[in-house]
Amino acid sequence: MLPGQPQRVLSGMRPTGRLHLGHYHGVLKSWLRLQTEYECLFFVADWHALTTHYDEPHVIEENVWDMVMDWLAVGVDPANAILFIQSRVPQHAELHVLLSMITPLSWLERVPTYKDQQLRLKDKDLSTYGFLGYPLLQSADILIYRAGLVPVGEDQVAHVEVTREVARRFNYLYGREADYEQVAESAIGKMGKKAGKLYRELRTAYLERGDGGALETARALLDKQKNITLGDRERLFGYLEGGGRMILSEPNALLTTSPKMPGLDGQKMSKSYNNVIGLRDAPDEVTRKIRTMPTDPARVHRADPGDPDKCPVWQFHLVYSGDEVQQWVQQGCRSAAIGCLECKQPVIDAVLAELKPIRERAEALAEDSTLVKNIISDGCRKARDIAEDTMTDVRRSMGLGYS
Ligand code: TRP
Ligand code: SF4
Repeated sequence: MLPGQPQRVLSGMRPTGRLHLGHYHGVLKSWLRLQTEYECLFFVADWHALTTHYDEPHVIEENVWDMVMDWLAVGVDPANAILFIQSRVPQHAELHVLLSMITPLSWLERVPTYKDQQLRLKDKDLSTYGFLGYPLLQSADILIYRAGLVPVGEDQVAHVEVTREVARRFNYLYGREADYEQVAESAIGKMGKKAGKLYRELRTAYLERGDGGALETARALLDKQKNITLGDRERLFGYLEGGGRMILSEPNALLTTSPKMPGLDGQKMSKSYNNVIGLRDAPDEVTRKIRTMPTDPARVHRADPGDPDKCPVWQFHLVYSGDEVQQWVQQGCRSAAIGCLECKQPVIDAVLAELKPIRERAEALAEDSTLVKNIISDGCRKARDIAEDTMTDVRRSMGLGYS
């Protein structure tokens, strides 16, 4: 956001279909909190799905609506947050193409997810243009709303970092005001030849390449200057960071801190591991899944003592149980005073209680698909208005303001 304005929050999720408890305890709960505190925009990143799954177009649509329905079912509130679908706001694509003009390939190649994902999804050809450009598409998603805060998981922090660099470079190239530059340049002249030259080099290193060390060195250099006025010194401090009009604002990542919500087998909860409890799973399915969860392998017989630290059920107790129950588990497990099924019962009860209102809301929404579609249409319209506003500035500053 521009200085003085409240921060806007933006986050996107790939359309993976129905969501599970991992999503709920990881991302969705933080969205629920944020929507009461900030202006929020949450969107379905359907183009992002195509960057890796371009060969599975038939699943996108169903996945989109299933996911939106789950957002609404957990309590993401269209009265508090703008909910929309990326591909229905084509301005994202326009900004993406304009940003691509000024983004060095090396910035994209060094994003850790680029190489990681190519290795992880080996059976897919990801040497595509779209896949390399995917962090830049994400930058466009963020910058087009001038978002100040971007809730993301740890793996996405590097993408927000690239976004900051792209914004800075954009402002450097297109946000300068002629007069400001003249004044700053004459101040540099007063620093003396050598210091002036060094200042320019450091400034370029920071603005064009995002070199934070150069920024600090340049600030120290300014501090040492004796023959420039206080006014010039301040001007040159500002000039270091672009010194022009901010057209795009630099966002900050907001790490979604999640309690450890593991899957049924103790690994990360993920559809691909087949270890999830779905938000819309029927109660008897939830009960069955938890009852068949693996436990500490040392507890072969009921009389064998166990160690909760070696048991995924204990991880669930950490999320769902209070001190008293946790103590009961610790003592009962280690002394074999309780059996595993007994131990699991409070978890079953807690998960069922948590999911009941979610499932009921999802069922109501499933009955009324026009309601969900209307919510999204409304959100897309609002999102397009904000996006178009930014694009007007962007087009004008890039020399495309004619009509
Ligand atoms: N890349 C994100 C993911 O895979 C999804 C995403 C796309 C996103 N655009 C975004 C997240 C903008 C935050 C902001 O999870
Ligand atoms: Fe796990 Fe509970 Fe069984 Fe101990 S008693 S092994 S914590 S399920």
